Amino acid sequence: MNQVNKLIVLAVLLQVCFADIYMHNPRGSNNRLNERGRGRNNANRMFDSQNNNRGGYNVGNLFYYAGSKLRIEWTNQHSCGNQNANCDIIIQYMCGPLVRDGTVTTTIPTNPTQCNNLNCNTDYTFGMHEDFYSYIHCRSRLRDTRLFTADRNIRINQATRTRQNSNGNRRGYECPEEKDYYPYWHPTPWKDIAVLTNDVSRCPMYTTESHNVKDRWYCDVSSSYLYMRSTSNSGNNLIPITKEACETFTYTVGNVQYNATWRRSPAHGIAAPSCGRNMWSRDNHLGNTVGGQTFNYNWTIPNDVNEKCVLRMRYNISTGDYDRDNTTSAHN
Ligand SMILES: *[C@@H]1O[C@H](CO)[C@@H](O)[C@H](O)[C@H]1NC(C)=O
Ligand SMILES: *[C@@H]1O[C@H](CO)[C@@H](O)[C@H](O)[C@H]1NC(C)=O
Ligand SMILES: *[C@@H]1O[C@H](CO)[C@@H](O)[C@H](O)[C@H]1NC(C)=O
Ligand SMILES: *[C@@H]1O[C@H](CO)[C@@H](O)[C@H](O)[C@H]1NC(C)=O
Repeated sequence: MNQVNKLIVLAVLLQVCFADIYMHNPRGSNNRLNERGRGRNNANRMFDSQNNNRGGYNVGNLFYYAGSKLRIEWTNQHSCGNQNANCDIIIQYMCGPLVRDGTVTTTIPTNPTQCNNLNCNTDYTFGMHEDFYSYIHCRSRLRDTRLFTADRNIRINQATRTRQNSNGNRRGYECPEEKDYYPYWHPTPWKDIAVLTNDVSRCPMYTTESHNVKDRWYCDVSSSYLYMRSTSNSGNNLIPITKEACETFTYTVGNVQYNATWRRSPAHGIAAPSCGRNMWSRDNHLGNTVGGQTFNYNWTIPNDVNEKCVLRMRYNISTGDYDRDNTTSAHN
């Protein structure tokens, strides 16, 4: 039996200025916890939804049987399934013993001295999806500088800084570069459920590149080094993202110098995500698709039994005239 402990809606927006996707079944949080008012208290609590403050549902645990069908339903503001916009919708989930809602609407700290027992991973006061080390690694490693950043001035080349997040703002322990790019080149705890796209010729790429089926490699450093880096946000000695650079990368903890290791993170070992055509929706309309149905995807709950899971929706949209696959840092 699966418990979806926290249900989220995540929006990724590239070319236009505000994203809007609202998950309605199961109820997407939009970063809410248990607020009494209509507006969420903290838009930075767990992830970057880029949604309006009044969207989202309060917490409430739900249980699902493996093998049963869950009809995931949502509305999205900008068009999908037509030529006005490039649109990809990515549905993922993550489970684990540390995943939780938390009991306060404050964002989980990065400085361990602000957490019980100097350990934010186990301070259940705060909601958490990705964990502490995942975030500190993200903040301590280089971003991919080949990516299009338009006119944004990215001062420090950390993976926490992207075109969408050039000043490195933090929401929970979400890694901004991971949020903005898919498939992502670094290991991620998120498992892919489905990709719905306007361009199904992209499906072979999505199903073969998914971390469900494909290993990732990364530059591994010790957790004591990451713990040390957590207390100050430094742009010095950022962890590389290529094998060659990783194999000569050294770091110091105390007075001891260590070598980093280029390490494999095995694929999740589950089936590739399903990939198919987006339903049609019209511009500027948080409503139904053709035929009066909500935008929906029927998910068969996998036999991946956990007490705590989170469902995530990502909405990647750019105007239809943006050449999404051929725009790089050369066009900044
Ligand atoms: C969104 O689309 C861009 C291309 O426009 C792509 O580079 C990026 O990886 C995509 N991100 C997600 C989260 O789908
Ligand atoms: C680190 O790498 C250097 C160069 O390859 C090697 O000489 C040294 O012994 C390594 N140090 C450790 C602690 O493994
Ligand atoms: C999901 O299942 C319901 C009930 O069988 C059906 O009406 C709906 O069209 C399905 N959705 C999709 C996207 O296939
Ligand atoms: C743009 O990218 C697509 C997908 O990678 C590729 O098939 C196409 O040839 C590219 N077009 C140009 C003009 O580079």
